[in-house]
Amino acid sequence: MSRYAHITGWGMAIPQKVLTNYDLEKMVETSNEWILSRTGIAERRIAAENESSASLGVQAALKALEVANVHPLEVDLIIVATSSPEHIFPATACIVQDQIGAKRAGAFDLSAACSGFIYALDLAAAAIRSGALNTVLVIGAETLSRFVDWNDRNTCVLFGDGAGAFVLQASEEPGGVLAGVMRSDGSGAELLTLEAGGSKVPASQATVLNGQHYIRMNGREVFRFATRVMAQSTLEVIQKAKLSLTEISVIIPHQANQRIIEAAAKNLGLPVEKVISNIHRYGNTSTASIPIATCEALQEGKLKAGDTVVFVGFGAGLTWGAVLVQWTGPLPTKKRVYPRRYRWFARLRSRILRLWRRVEGFLWGKNAT
Ligand code: COA
Repeated sequence: MSRYAHITGWGMAIPQKVLTNYDLEKMVETSNEWILSRTGIAERRIAAENESSASLGVQAALKALEVANVHPLEVDLIIVATSSPEHIFPATACIVQDQIGAKRAGAFDLSAACSGFIYALDLAAAAIRSGALNTVLVIGAETLSRFVDWNDRNTCVLFGDGAGAFVLQASEEPGGVLAGVMRSDGSGAELLTLEAGGSKVPASQATVLNGQHYIRMNGREVFRFATRVMAQSTLEVIQKAKLSLTEISVIIPHQANQRIIEAAAKNLGLPVEKVISNIHRYGNTSTASIPIATCEALQEGKLKAGDTVVFVGFGAGLTWGAVLVQWTGPLPTKKRVYPRRYRWFARLRSRILRLWRRVEGFLWGKNAT
């Protein structure tokens, strides 16, 4: 029997606080017109003091589990792709694992900058298809506002906070994640960096004074790289899945710049309506941008069961990649059929299960606070 990895649940979480281009006009020398025309961004969300990459990740994960109708104890592995982890260690994924009560799950962070969600999706699907795992939670969670230099107009207009999550489950039904490509080119490492705080440049008074704990970027070069690899990796993953571009219903790209999204559509010869964009609302939320755009595309009916979708992204590293998915939605729950004389046993079993879930819910409620 072949095994397939289906995306059966999805969820997103965004902070309440909105920072508009007009707000930024008061902070740096910029204008709403400049930001809108060069990036397509009108506003972004900023995490409150009591919010973090983990807390946003937890909210998104719980919603995704609810959509999939999966209990946290069924999760085998949690991957948090993030460019703004809570710490170098412990992993943000472990904090999420504890807070959602996924007591049987392994957990680790994946660092591939804005391509992280694509990498995590591809790896999770491979682990499920191989038979090693059954249920994986893939999360993209960011609070990049904490790493932005709010005096640097080159970067502070671009980024925003948020989280998105997918549940992946094994099934014998054909579909789900059919192919993925992951690429990198470390020779471009210096184009987009957060230099200090690691082992090469440990945090010190000097690194803080030099602003090396902030994101630094060569925007023009990153732009050039992004427009090149978006179309290239989309075509590569379609070829790997042995499909053609005409069979693709929709493309959900990393949301970094509307002009990059439009250039990708043009290079692929696709109408721009086929390429999902919600960048005007959230800016670049790094690893969270693809799952957030997916949740909104589903809500708006732009992505439906039966569609073939390509997720494609790029980021610091340099890294890029794409994943092709035959979208199915939540798996139908398999009802056990008991012979008539054993129905009393089925009723007893479901009562015990219900009771057990209530006890567990009570215990988590206590742990979560
Ligand atoms: N407001 C007003 N002017 C700004 C500005 C801002 N927020 N940011 C930059 N400028 C200025 C620059 O200083 C430059 O001025 P100069 O010519 O006097 O030096 C001018 O605008 C044009 O800069 P340029 O870099 O050519 O603009 P651009 O059209 O390339 O747009 C980016 C800049 C950053 C929006 C664009 O390069 C980009 O999106 N790059 C990709 C970034 C990205 O996606 N990063 C994340 C990867 S995951």
